[in-house]
Amino acid sequence: MKNDKDFKVSSVGCQSHVDHDRNFPDCDLISPLRIKNLNLKNRIVVSPMCQYSSENGFVNDWHLVHLGSRAAGGAGLVFTEATAVTPQGRISPSDLGLWDDNHIEPLSRIAAFIHRMGSIAGIQLAHAGRKGSCDVPWKGGASLKPTEGGWNIIGPSAIPFSDSSQTPKALNHHGIKEVIQAFKIAAERSVKAGFKIIEIHSAHGYLLHQFLSPLSNLRTDEYGGNLENRMRLLCQVVSEVKAITPKEMPLFVRISATDWVDGGWDLEQSIILASKLKTLGVDLIDVSSGGTVPKAKIPIGPNYQVPFAAEIRQLADIKTGAVGLITESHQANDIIISGKADLVFVGREFLRKPYWGLTASSELSQEPDWPIPYGYAIQRHH
Ligand SMILES: Cc1cc2nc3c(=O)[nH]c(=O)nc-3n(C[C@H](O)[C@H](O)[C@H](O)COP(=O)(O)O)c2cc1C
Repeated sequence: MKNDKDFKVSSVGCQSHVDHDRNFPDCDLISPLRIKNLNLKNRIVVSPMCQYSSENGFVNDWHLVHLGSRAAGGAGLVFTEATAVTPQGRISPSDLGLWDDNHIEPLSRIAAFIHRMGSIAGIQLAHAGRKGSCDVPWKGGASLKPTEGGWNIIGPSAIPFSDSSQTPKALNHHGIKEVIQAFKIAAERSVKAGFKIIEIHSAHGYLLHQFLSPLSNLRTDEYGGNLENRMRLLCQVVSEVKAITPKEMPLFVRISATDWVDGGWDLEQSIILASKLKTLGVDLIDVSSGGTVPKAKIPIGPNYQVPFAAEIRQLADIKTGAVGLITESHQANDIIISGKADLVFVGREFLRKPYWGLTASSELSQEPDWPIPYGYAIQRHH
Protein backbone atom coordinates (compact mmCIF):
# COMPACT_ATOMS: atom_id res chain seq x y z
CA MET A 1 0.00 0.00 0.00
CA LYS A 2 1.12 3.56 -0.60
CA ASN A 3 1.64 5.30 2.66
CA ASP A 4 -0.80 7.95 3.75
CA LYS A 5 1.65 10.77 3.21
CA ASP A 6 2.28 9.81 -0.43
CA PHE A 7 -1.43 9.57 -1.00
CA LYS A 8 -2.10 13.08 0.22
CA VAL A 9 0.80 14.61 -1.68
CA SER A 10 -0.10 12.96 -4.96
CA SER A 11 -3.76 13.82 -4.62
CA VAL A 12 -3.04 17.54 -4.41
CA GLY A 13 -2.61 17.84 -8.16
CA CYS A 14 -5.84 16.04 -8.89
CA GLN A 15 -8.49 17.74 -6.86
CA SER A 16 -12.10 17.46 -7.63
CA HIS A 17 -13.19 20.35 -9.82
CA VAL A 18 -13.31 19.63 -13.52
CA ASP A 19 -11.46 22.78 -14.61
CA HIS A 20 -8.93 22.24 -11.89
CA ASP A 21 -8.19 18.81 -13.29
CA ARG A 22 -7.58 20.24 -16.72
CA ASN A 23 -4.82 22.39 -15.21
CA PHE A 24 -3.02 19.26 -14.13
CA PRO A 25 -2.29 17.27 -17.26
CA ASP A 26 -0.27 14.86 -15.14
CA CYS A 27 -3.53 13.38 -13.84
CA ASP A 28 -3.79 9.90 -15.17
CA LEU A 29 -5.67 6.68 -14.57
CA ILE A 30 -3.79 5.95 -11.40
CA SER A 31 -3.95 9.43 -9.93
CA PRO A 32 -6.21 9.78 -6.91
CA LEU A 33 -9.47 11.68 -7.25
CA ARG A 34 -11.08 13.61 -4.47
CA ILE A 35 -14.85 13.96 -4.57
CA LYS A 36 -16.24 15.99 -1.69
CA ASN A 37 -14.33 14.59 1.30
CA LEU A 38 -13.75 11.17 -0.24
CA ASN A 39 -10.45 10.11 -1.78
CA LEU A 40 -10.48 7.49 -4.51
CA LYS A 41 -7.00 6.01 -4.80
CA ASN A 42 -7.28 5.88 -8.60
CA ARG A 43 -9.72 6.45 -11.47
CA ILE A 44 -10.52 2.77 -12.02
CA VAL A 45 -14.11 1.72 -11.28
CA VAL A 46 -15.76 -1.69 -11.33
CA SER A 47 -18.91 -0.97 -13.30
CA PRO A 48 -22.18 -2.21 -11.78
CA MET A 49 -22.91 -5.70 -13.09
CA CYS A 50 -25.93 -7.84 -12.21
CA GLN A 51 -24.99 -11.25 -10.90
CA TYR A 52 -28.53 -12.66 -10.75
CA SER A 53 -27.33 -14.74 -7.81
CA SER A 54 -29.44 -13.51 -4.89
CA GLU A 55 -32.31 -15.10 -3.05
CA ASN A 56 -34.96 -12.69 -1.82
CA GLY A 57 -32.57 -9.83 -2.60
CA PHE A 58 -29.81 -10.98 -0.23
CA VAL A 59 -26.09 -10.97 -0.97
CA ASN A 60 -24.21 -14.19 -0.23
CA ASP A 61 -20.67 -15.56 -0.42
CA TRP A 62 -20.64 -15.12 -4.20
CA HIS A 63 -21.04 -11.35 -3.89
CA LEU A 64 -18.35 -11.11 -1.23
CA VAL A 65 -15.87 -13.02 -3.38
CA HIS A 66 -16.89 -11.31 -6.64
CA LEU A 67 -16.79 -7.73 -5.35
CA GLY A 68 -14.05 -8.39 -2.80
CA SER A 69 -11.61 -9.80 -5.33
CA ARG A 70 -12.03 -6.78 -7.59
CA ALA A 71 -11.36 -4.49 -4.63
CA ALA A 72 -8.23 -6.55 -3.93
CA GLY A 73 -7.57 -6.33 -7.66
CA GLY A 74 -6.79 -2.65 -7.56
CA ALA A 75 -10.01 -0.81 -8.43
CA GLY A 76 -10.35 2.53 -6.67
CA LEU A 77 -14.14 2.17 -6.56
CA VAL A 78 -16.24 -0.97 -6.66
CA PHE A 79 -19.94 -0.75 -7.41
CA THR A 80 -22.49 -3.36 -6.50
CA GLU A 81 -24.80 -4.48 -9.23
CA ALA A 82 -28.18 -2.76 -9.72
CA THR A 83 -29.77 -3.10 -6.30
CA ALA A 84 -33.54 -3.07 -6.42
CA VAL A 85 -35.34 -0.57 -4.20
CA THR A 86 -38.53 -2.69 -4.20
CA PRO A 87 -39.20 -6.36 -5.03
CA GLN A 88 -41.24 -5.16 -8.02
CA GLY A 89 -38.21 -3.14 -9.17
CA ARG A 90 -36.11 -6.26 -9.80
CA ILE A 91 -35.19 -7.35 -13.31
CA SER A 92 -35.28 -11.01 -12.26
CA PRO A 93 -36.26 -12.93 -9.11
CA SER A 94 -32.51 -13.37 -8.43
CA ASP A 95 -31.63 -9.66 -8.30
CA LEU A 96 -29.94 -8.00 -5.37
CA GLY A 97 -32.21 -5.77 -3.28
CA LEU A 98 -32.35 -3.30 -0.44
CA TRP A 99 -36.06 -3.06 0.27
CA ASP A 100 -35.78 -4.62 3.72
CA ASP A 101 -33.75 -3.67 6.80
CA ASN A 102 -32.53 -7.27 6.93
CA HIS A 103 -30.60 -6.69 3.70
CA ILE A 104 -28.33 -4.17 5.44
CA GLU A 105 -26.13 -6.36 7.62
CA PRO A 106 -24.87 -8.82 4.96
CA LEU A 107 -24.20 -5.92 2.60
CA SER A 108 -22.24 -4.13 5.32
CA ARG A 109 -19.79 -7.04 5.47
CA ILE A 110 -19.02 -6.58 1.78
CA ALA A 111 -18.70 -2.80 2.03
CA ALA A 112 -16.31 -3.19 4.99
CA PHE A 113 -14.17 -5.70 3.10
CA ILE A 114 -13.92 -3.41 0.06
CA HIS A 115 -12.80 -0.59 2.35
CA ARG A 116 -10.21 -2.82 4.01
CA MET A 117 -8.71 -3.32 0.55
CA GLY A 118 -8.17 0.46 0.25
CA SER A 119 -10.98 0.73 -2.29
CA ILE A 120 -14.30 2.55 -1.95
CA ALA A 121 -17.62 0.69 -1.87
CA GLY A 122 -20.41 2.15 -3.99
CA ILE A 123 -23.95 0.90 -4.41
CA GLN A 124 -26.15 1.31 -7.45
CA LEU A 125 -29.84 1.77 -6.61
CA ALA A 126 -32.30 0.75 -9.29
CA HIS A 127 -35.87 0.11 -10.31
CA ALA A 128 -36.43 -1.92 -13.48
CA GLY A 129 -39.94 -0.59 -14.21
CA ARG A 130 -41.28 -2.10 -17.43
CA LYS A 131 -38.14 -4.21 -17.88
CA GLY A 132 -38.81 -6.11 -14.65
CA SER A 133 -40.09 -9.62 -13.99
CA CYS A 134 -37.83 -11.56 -16.36
CA ASP A 135 -36.05 -14.87 -16.02
CA VAL A 136 -32.27 -14.76 -15.47
CA PRO A 137 -30.40 -14.23 -18.75
CA TRP A 138 -28.69 -17.63 -18.81
CA LYS A 139 -32.16 -19.21 -18.82
CA GLY A 140 -33.20 -17.04 -21.75
CA GLY A 141 -34.36 -13.90 -19.90
CA ALA A 142 -38.02 -14.36 -20.92
CA SER A 143 -40.71 -12.21 -19.38
CA LEU A 144 -42.26 -14.00 -16.37
CA LYS A 145 -45.94 -13.72 -15.54
CA PRO A 146 -47.02 -13.65 -11.88
CA THR A 147 -48.10 -17.29 -12.27
CA GLU A 148 -44.57 -18.19 -13.42
CA GLY A 149 -42.72 -16.69 -10.47
CA GLY A 150 -42.82 -13.13 -11.78
CA TRP A 151 -44.91 -10.12 -10.78
CA ASN A 152 -46.93 -7.26 -12.25
CA ILE A 153 -44.75 -4.45 -13.57
CA ILE A 154 -45.06 -0.67 -13.69
CA GLY A 155 -43.90 2.11 -15.99
CA PRO A 156 -44.64 5.69 -16.97
CA SER A 157 -47.14 4.52 -19.59
CA ALA A 158 -48.81 1.23 -20.47
CA ILE A 159 -46.35 0.45 -23.27
CA PRO A 160 -44.46 -2.87 -23.18
CA PHE A 161 -40.69 -2.92 -23.78
CA SER A 162 -41.03 -5.54 -26.53
CA ASP A 163 -43.65 -7.76 -28.16
CA SER A 164 -42.85 -10.52 -25.68
CA SER A 165 -42.81 -8.30 -22.55
CA GLN A 166 -45.62 -7.79 -20.07
CA THR A 167 -47.52 -4.53 -20.44
CA PRO A 168 -46.70 -2.31 -17.46
CA LYS A 169 -49.33 -0.53 -15.43
CA ALA A 170 -48.93 3.23 -15.81
CA LEU A 171 -48.00 4.66 -12.43
CA ASN A 172 -50.50 7.00 -10.79
CA HIS A 173 -49.37 9.81 -8.47
CA HIS A 174 -49.54 7.59 -5.43
CA GLY A 175 -47.35 5.00 -7.17
CA ILE A 176 -44.83 7.67 -8.16
CA LYS A 177 -44.63 8.82 -4.53
CA GLU A 178 -43.99 5.22 -3.48
CA VAL A 179 -41.13 4.89 -5.97
CA ILE A 180 -39.50 8.10 -4.71
CA GLN A 181 -39.91 6.92 -1.12
CA ALA A 182 -38.40 3.51 -1.98
CA PHE A 183 -35.26 5.15 -3.42
CA LYS A 184 -35.02 7.37 -0.36
CA ILE A 185 -35.30 4.53 2.15
CA ALA A 186 -32.88 2.37 0.15
CA ALA A 187 -30.41 5.27 0.18
CA GLU A 188 -30.74 5.51 3.95
CA ARG A 189 -30.11 1.77 4.22
CA SER A 190 -27.08 2.11 1.90
CA VAL A 191 -25.55 4.59 4.32
CA LYS A 192 -26.27 2.24 7.23
CA ALA A 193 -24.57 -0.59 5.31
CA GLY A 194 -21.43 1.55 5.07
CA PHE A 195 -21.41 2.41 1.37
CA LYS A 196 -19.61 5.67 0.66
CA ILE A 197 -21.04 6.47 -2.77
CA ILE A 198 -24.55 5.97 -4.11
CA GLU A 199 -25.28 5.78 -7.82
CA ILE A 200 -28.86 6.14 -9.03
CA HIS A 201 -29.52 3.99 -12.07
CA SER A 202 -31.32 6.13 -14.64
CA ALA A 203 -29.97 4.38 -17.74
CA HIS A 204 -30.48 1.30 -19.92
CA GLY A 205 -34.24 1.68 -20.24
CA TYR A 206 -35.03 1.08 -16.57
CA LEU A 207 -37.75 2.98 -14.72
CA LEU A 208 -36.13 6.42 -14.30
CA HIS A 209 -34.87 6.34 -17.89
CA GLN A 210 -38.36 5.25 -19.01
CA PHE A 211 -39.68 8.53 -17.61
CA LEU A 212 -36.93 10.52 -19.38
CA SER A 213 -37.46 9.04 -22.82
CA PRO A 214 -40.31 10.19 -25.05
CA LEU A 215 -40.34 6.66 -26.50
CA SER A 216 -41.54 5.11 -23.23
CA ASN A 217 -43.20 8.11 -21.57
CA LEU A 218 -46.45 9.24 -23.20
CA ARG A 219 -47.91 10.79 -20.06
CA THR A 220 -49.92 14.00 -20.24
CA ASP A 221 -49.54 15.00 -16.56
CA GLU A 222 -46.60 16.85 -14.97
CA TYR A 223 -44.39 13.73 -15.36
CA GLY A 224 -44.69 13.60 -19.15
CA GLY A 225 -44.56 15.74 -22.26
CA ASN A 226 -41.88 18.41 -22.19
CA LEU A 227 -38.32 17.77 -21.04
CA GLU A 228 -38.78 19.38 -17.65
CA ASN A 229 -41.73 17.10 -16.93
CA ARG A 230 -39.90 13.97 -18.11
CA MET A 231 -36.93 14.86 -15.87
CA ARG A 232 -39.19 15.47 -12.87
CA LEU A 233 -39.18 11.97 -11.37
CA LEU A 234 -35.39 11.58 -11.53
CA CYS A 235 -34.93 15.06 -10.05
CA GLN A 236 -37.34 14.27 -7.22
CA VAL A 237 -35.54 10.99 -6.51
CA VAL A 238 -32.20 12.82 -6.46
CA SER A 239 -33.53 15.53 -4.14
CA GLU A 240 -34.93 12.98 -1.68
CA VAL A 241 -31.74 10.90 -1.74
CA LYS A 242 -29.66 14.05 -1.17
CA ALA A 243 -31.90 15.01 1.75
CA ILE A 244 -31.50 11.66 3.53
CA THR A 245 -27.76 11.09 2.92
CA PRO A 246 -24.84 12.88 4.63
CA LYS A 247 -24.01 16.23 3.02
CA GLU A 248 -20.49 15.09 2.12
CA MET A 249 -21.54 11.78 0.56
CA PRO A 250 -20.97 11.75 -3.21
CA LEU A 251 -23.93 10.97 -5.43
CA PHE A 252 -23.58 9.65 -8.98
CA VAL A 253 -26.29 9.19 -11.59
CA ARG A 254 -25.93 6.73 -14.46
CA ILE A 255 -27.69 7.86 -17.61
CA SER A 256 -28.01 6.66 -21.16
CA ALA A 257 -26.78 9.65 -23.16
CA THR A 258 -28.90 8.56 -26.11
CA ASP A 259 -31.56 6.01 -27.01
CA TRP A 260 -29.89 5.69 -30.43
CA VAL A 261 -33.34 6.19 -32.00
CA ASP A 262 -34.68 9.26 -33.80
CA GLY A 263 -37.24 11.02 -31.63
CA GLY A 264 -35.88 9.40 -28.47
CA TRP A 265 -33.71 10.62 -25.61
CA ASP A 266 -30.49 12.19 -26.92
CA LEU A 267 -27.26 13.94 -26.04
CA GLU A 268 -28.75 17.42 -26.12
CA GLN A 269 -31.32 16.47 -23.48
CA SER A 270 -28.63 14.64 -21.51
CA ILE A 271 -26.54 17.82 -21.29
CA ILE A 272 -29.54 19.78 -19.99
CA LEU A 273 -30.29 16.97 -17.52
CA ALA A 274 -26.67 16.82 -16.34
CA SER A 275 -26.64 20.61 -15.73
CA LYS A 276 -29.85 20.30 -13.74
CA LEU A 277 -28.55 17.34 -11.72
CA LYS A 278 -25.44 19.34 -10.89
CA THR A 279 -27.60 22.06 -9.32
CA LEU A 280 -29.29 19.35 -7.23
CA GLY A 281 -25.93 18.25 -5.85
CA VAL A 282 -25.05 15.31 -8.10
CA ASP A 283 -21.27 14.90 -8.27
CA LEU A 284 -20.75 12.74 -11.34
CA ILE A 285 -22.66 11.52 -14.38
CA ASP A 286 -21.82 7.95 -15.35
CA VAL A 287 -22.41 8.03 -19.08
CA SER A 288 -23.73 4.93 -20.81
CA SER A 289 -26.28 4.63 -23.63
CA GLY A 290 -29.20 2.67 -25.06
CA GLY A 291 -31.66 0.25 -23.50
CA THR A 292 -35.02 1.95 -23.98
CA VAL A 293 -36.18 0.00 -27.00
CA PRO A 294 -34.97 -3.30 -28.45
CA LYS A 295 -34.78 -2.03 -32.04
CA ALA A 296 -32.02 0.60 -31.51
CA LYS A 297 -28.99 0.25 -33.77
CA ILE A 298 -25.94 0.86 -31.59
CA PRO A 299 -22.51 1.32 -33.20
CA ILE A 300 -20.69 -0.71 -30.58
CA GLY A 301 -16.89 -0.53 -30.56
CA PRO A 302 -14.02 0.50 -28.30
CA ASN A 303 -14.72 3.87 -26.60
CA TYR A 304 -18.07 4.20 -28.40
CA GLN A 305 -19.68 6.05 -25.48
CA VAL A 306 -16.64 8.11 -24.49
CA PRO A 307 -17.52 11.13 -26.70
CA PHE A 308 -20.79 11.47 -24.76
CA ALA A 309 -18.92 11.54 -21.45
CA ALA A 310 -16.56 14.16 -22.89
CA GLU A 311 -19.35 16.43 -24.18
CA ILE A 312 -21.36 16.23 -20.96
CA ARG A 313 -18.23 16.95 -18.92
CA GLN A 314 -17.42 19.95 -21.07
CA LEU A 315 -20.87 21.44 -21.62
CA ALA A 316 -22.53 20.69 -18.28
CA ASP A 317 -19.30 21.31 -16.37
CA ILE A 318 -19.70 18.22 -14.23
CA LYS A 319 -17.50 15.21 -13.60
CA THR A 320 -18.21 12.21 -15.77
CA GLY A 321 -17.45 8.53 -15.89
CA ALA A 322 -16.76 6.82 -19.22
CA VAL A 323 -17.86 3.24 -19.82
CA GLY A 324 -18.21 0.76 -22.65
CA LEU A 325 -15.60 -1.48 -24.23
CA ILE A 326 -12.73 0.04 -22.35
CA THR A 327 -10.43 -2.92 -21.90
CA GLU A 328 -6.80 -1.76 -22.09
CA SER A 329 -4.88 0.22 -19.48
CA HIS A 330 -3.45 2.67 -22.02
CA GLN A 331 -6.87 3.16 -23.58
CA ALA A 332 -8.33 3.98 -20.16
CA ASN A 333 -5.37 6.20 -19.32
CA ASP A 334 -5.79 8.23 -22.52
CA ILE A 335 -9.43 8.94 -21.61
CA ILE A 336 -8.33 10.49 -18.31
CA ILE A 337 -5.26 12.26 -19.66
CA SER A 338 -7.19 13.84 -22.52
CA GLY A 339 -9.83 15.16 -20.11
CA LYS A 340 -12.72 13.18 -21.59
CA ALA A 341 -13.80 11.76 -18.23
CA ASP A 342 -12.80 11.73 -14.57
CA LEU A 343 -13.36 8.03 -13.96
CA VAL A 344 -13.23 4.96 -16.17
CA PHE A 345 -15.82 2.27 -15.50
CA VAL A 346 -14.71 -1.19 -16.58
CA GLY A 347 -17.29 -3.95 -16.88
CA ARG A 348 -16.66 -7.22 -18.66
CA GLU A 349 -12.88 -6.92 -18.67
CA PHE A 350 -13.06 -6.92 -14.87
CA LEU A 351 -15.04 -10.18 -15.10
CA ARG A 352 -12.30 -11.70 -17.23
CA LYS A 353 -9.51 -10.21 -15.12
CA PRO A 354 -10.40 -9.53 -11.49
CA TYR A 355 -6.96 -7.97 -10.93
CA TRP A 356 -7.28 -5.62 -13.91
CA GLY A 357 -6.56 -2.64 -11.65
CA LEU A 358 -3.24 -4.02 -10.44
CA THR A 359 -2.22 -5.00 -13.96
CA ALA A 360 -3.15 -1.55 -15.27
CA SER A 361 -0.91 0.06 -12.64
CA SER A 362 2.05 -2.09 -13.66
CA GLU A 363 1.45 -1.43 -17.33
CA LEU A 364 1.38 2.30 -16.64
CA SER A 365 4.74 1.93 -14.88
CA GLN A 366 3.62 2.22 -11.30
CA GLU A 367 4.18 -0.27 -8.56
CA PRO A 368 0.72 -1.80 -8.08
CA ASP A 369 -1.08 -1.10 -4.84
CA TRP A 370 -0.86 -4.75 -3.81
CA PRO A 371 -2.98 -6.12 -0.98
CA ILE A 372 -0.57 -6.17 1.98
CA PRO A 373 -0.02 -9.97 2.17
CA TYR A 374 0.78 -10.06 -1.56
CA GLY A 375 2.95 -6.94 -1.68
CA TYR A 376 4.99 -8.12 1.28
CA ALA A 377 5.63 -11.47 -0.37
CA ILE A 378 6.31 -10.17 -3.88
CA GLN A 379 8.58 -7.31 -2.87
CA ARG A 380 10.54 -8.81 0.00
CA HIS A 381 10.86 -12.54 -0.72
CA HIS A 382 12.60 -13.33 -3.96
C1 LIG B 1 -23.26 -9.19 -16.75
C2 LIG B 1 -23.53 -7.72 -16.83
C3 LIG B 1 -24.40 -7.15 -15.92
C4 LIG B 1 -24.64 -5.76 -15.96
N1 LIG B 1 -25.42 -5.19 -14.99
C5 LIG B 1 -25.51 -3.85 -14.91
C6 LIG B 1 -26.11 -3.22 -13.79
O1 LIG B 1 -26.53 -3.88 -12.83
N2 LIG B 1 -26.20 -1.88 -13.79
C7 LIG B 1 -25.71 -1.12 -14.82
O2 LIG B 1 -25.82 0.10 -14.78
N3 LIG B 1 -25.09 -1.68 -15.87
C8 LIG B 1 -24.96 -3.02 -15.92
N4 LIG B 1 -24.25 -3.58 -16.93
C9 LIG B 1 -23.55 -2.72 -17.88
C10 LIG B 1 -22.10 -2.51 -17.42
O3 LIG B 1 -22.05 -1.80 -16.20
C11 LIG B 1 -21.31 -1.72 -18.50
O4 LIG B 1 -21.91 -0.46 -18.64
C12 LIG B 1 -21.30 -2.44 -19.83
O5 LIG B 1 -21.01 -3.81 -19.67
C13 LIG B 1 -20.29 -1.82 -20.79
O6 LIG B 1 -19.00 -1.87 -20.24
P1 LIG B 1 -17.91 -3.02 -20.65
O7 LIG B 1 -17.79 -2.96 -22.15
O8 LIG B 1 -16.68 -2.60 -19.95
O9 LIG B 1 -18.46 -4.33 -20.19
C14 LIG B 1 -24.03 -4.97 -16.95
C15 LIG B 1 -23.19 -5.57 -17.89
C16 LIG B 1 -22.92 -6.92 -17.83
C17 LIG B 1 -21.96 -7.52 -18.82
